[in-house]
Amino acid sequence: MCGIVAGISEKNITPILLEGLKKLEYRGYDSSGISLLFDNEFSLLKETGKVKNLELSISKECSFFGKLGLAHTRWSTHGKVSKENAHPHNSKNFSIVHNGIIENYLGLKGDLIKKGYDFKSETDSEVILYILEESYKSSGSVFKAIQDVIQKTKGSYALGIIHRKNEEVVWSVKKDSPLVIGKTKDMSLMASDKNAIDSCTEEIYYLGDNEIAKLEKKGVTFFTSDGKILYKEGIKIDKNQEIVGKGGFEYFMEKEIYEQPEVIKNTLKNRIKKESIYLDELNRYKRELKKIENVEIISCGTSNHAALISKYWFENILNIPCEVIIASEYRYKTLLTRKNTLFITLSQSGETADTLSALKLINEKNKHLLSISVCNVEGSSIPRESDLTLLTNAGKEIGVASTKAFTSQLAVMLMLIYSIGREKRSLDKEMNSYIIKSLKKLPIKMEEFLNASTSLDSFIKTLENTTSALYIGRSEYGALAMEGALKLKEISYIHSESFYAGELKHGSLALIDENTPVIAIAPFNELFDKIYSNIEEILARNGKVLMLSDKHIISENLISIKMPECPEILKPICYSIPLQYLAFKTAKLKGTDIDKPRNLAKSVTVE
Ligand code: G6P
Repeated sequence: MCGIVAGISEKNITPILLEGLKKLEYRGYDSSGISLLFDNEFSLLKETGKVKNLELSISKECSFFGKLGLAHTRWSTHGKVSKENAHPHNSKNFSIVHNGIIENYLGLKGDLIKKGYDFKSETDSEVILYILEESYKSSGSVFKAIQDVIQKTKGSYALGIIHRKNEEVVWSVKKDSPLVIGKTKDMSLMASDKNAIDSCTEEIYYLGDNEIAKLEKKGVTFFTSDGKILYKEGIKIDKNQEIVGKGGFEYFMEKEIYEQPEVIKNTLKNRIKKESIYLDELNRYKRELKKIENVEIISCGTSNHAALISKYWFENILNIPCEVIIASEYRYKTLLTRKNTLFITLSQSGETADTLSALKLINEKNKHLLSISVCNVEGSSIPRESDLTLLTNAGKEIGVASTKAFTSQLAVMLMLIYSIGREKRSLDKEMNSYIIKSLKKLPIKMEEFLNASTSLDSFIKTLENTTSALYIGRSEYGALAMEGALKLKEISYIHSESFYAGELKHGSLALIDENTPVIAIAPFNELFDKIYSNIEEILARNGKVLMLSDKHIISENLISIKMPECPEILKPICYSIPLQYLAFKTAKLKGTDIDKPRNLAKSVTVE
C-alpha cells in the first residue's frame, strides 16, 4: 500500500529517498515518484510500475539534485495507474505526498474548482494541495495551511509537505495512517514504516493523530494541531537488526514457507520452560485473565483465518464463547460487547487500517476487560493502541501472501489459551501437559509436513490448468480451507472458494464437474467419516478430489496424499504448510509475480 519517504539532509537526499522506496516495495504499489526542491524550484519525476523504472529516469537526468524532497509509492485507490495520478503532486507553492483516503474529497474538489483550481489528476489527494494553496494565499503561513487541511478533510492521511520558498523545512502531519519520523545529527526523515529509514537514522519518533512535525536538518519539532510544542521521547534504533534476504531461495514467500520450523522455535523460545508456558507480558494482567467470560477477535485476511481457528480452541479447550469479526465489519455494526470480554486483534503488520480503527473504537467505548494484540511488528500502531502485545517473533515477512506470520500467530494463540486456562484453573492436568508436549513437537512436525508436501508435485499441473478450485474442511479445517483458497487465488490468480464441507450440498455441489478440482483437508479425527462422506458425494459426480489426510484411501478419482501423524491440536498449523506449498508451486508454474501479486498490498493502511 502507498508508502512515503521524505526528508532533509546536508547532502543530496535522492539516494536516501530511493533506498527508502525500495524498502517499501514489499508493501505493494503500482507507481512511484519523487520531488526535490533546489533553488526554490521543484524537480519532479514519476513512473508507473516498479521503483527501478523511477531509478532509471532519475539516472537519465543530469541535474536531479536537492537536499530536501518527497518520495512515494502509490497503490491506486482513486484514479487509474498513471503518471498523472502518481505522487508527489505539485502546485505553484507546494509539493505533497499522501497516504490514506480523503473521504470528503468530492465536495472539497467541487469548491476548489469553483475557486479556479485546475485539477491535473483523478486522485483524492490533490484536494490537499489546493487547500494548502488557498489557505497560504490568505495567511502566508504554512503551519496555518496545514491546520486547515486537518480541519477541512475527513478520512485518513499521512502527509509529507514542502513549500517552494523554504528549503530548510519538510512538514508532516498524520491521521489514521502510519508515519514514523527519524533523525540523526544532520538529517531528519519521515516514512510510512521504519524499515524505510532505520539504516540511516539513530532515533525514531511516532507521530500521533493530528500532530504536526517540522523536520529540519538539525532536528525535528513536534506540535499539537493548535500549535503547542510537544515533547516526544525518541526510540533508539537497534542497529543489529536482521537484514532480510532470500536466503538462497528464488522468492521471499518460498523462503518464508521453508523457514517456518525455525521461526516457530523463535516464537516458542523462552516461553515454554520445562512443563509450563510463560508469557511474561501477561503477568500484570492476571486479575483480568481470571475474569474473562467472552472473547472477541478482530482481524483481516489471513489473520482472520488464524482467528477463526483460534475460535475453535477457545470454545473447545476453555469453554469460553469466542466471536470472530472481520475488522471492516466491526466498525459499522452495533457493538454488543458482553461482560468481561477479552478483545484480541490479530495482525501481522500491526498497521491494517480496519483492524486499527476497530481497536480505537473499542478503546473509545471502553467496555472491554482487556485488549491484547498478537502482532509481528514491534512498535507498530496496533500494539501501541493495545493494553498488551504478544509478539509472534516470526521475523520480517516480505511476501505479500502471509505464511510464517499465520503459523506463528496460531502458536501464540495456543500459548495464550493455555495461559488463560491456567489463570482460570479451567485446564485439567491432562490438557495442560498435552498442550505443552504438543507445542514442543511443533518445529519438528512442521519439518515433516514440509517434507511430505513434495508429494503434491504431481497435482500441481492439474491446478495450473484449471480456472477454478474448491477447498473443503470441517470445524478448524473449514477455516483452514479458507486460508488454502486465499493462498491459491492471491498468488496464482486462479479462482478458488472454500466451504465448510457439510454445506456443499446446500448449493455449491452444483459447481462440481471433472474440471473443478476439490482440495479436501481431512485429518483422521472424529469428523473424518463425515468429511469422507462429502468427498464421496463429490466423487460420485465425477469430481476430482485431492485429499490431505493422515489416513490413506484408494479410490477412483481420489488423489490421497498421506500427511504425517501429528497431535490433533497441532494439525491446523501443520496442514497449512501443504496448502502454502500447493499455492506457491502452482503460482511458480504460472509465472506470476509471487512476492508482489497484482493489485495486492502487504500492509493495507487504507480502509
Ligand atoms: C493484506 C495482506 C494479507 C494479510 C492482510 C491482513 O491483505 O496481503 O496477507 O493477511 O492484509 O494484514 P495484517 O497485517 O493485519 O495481518
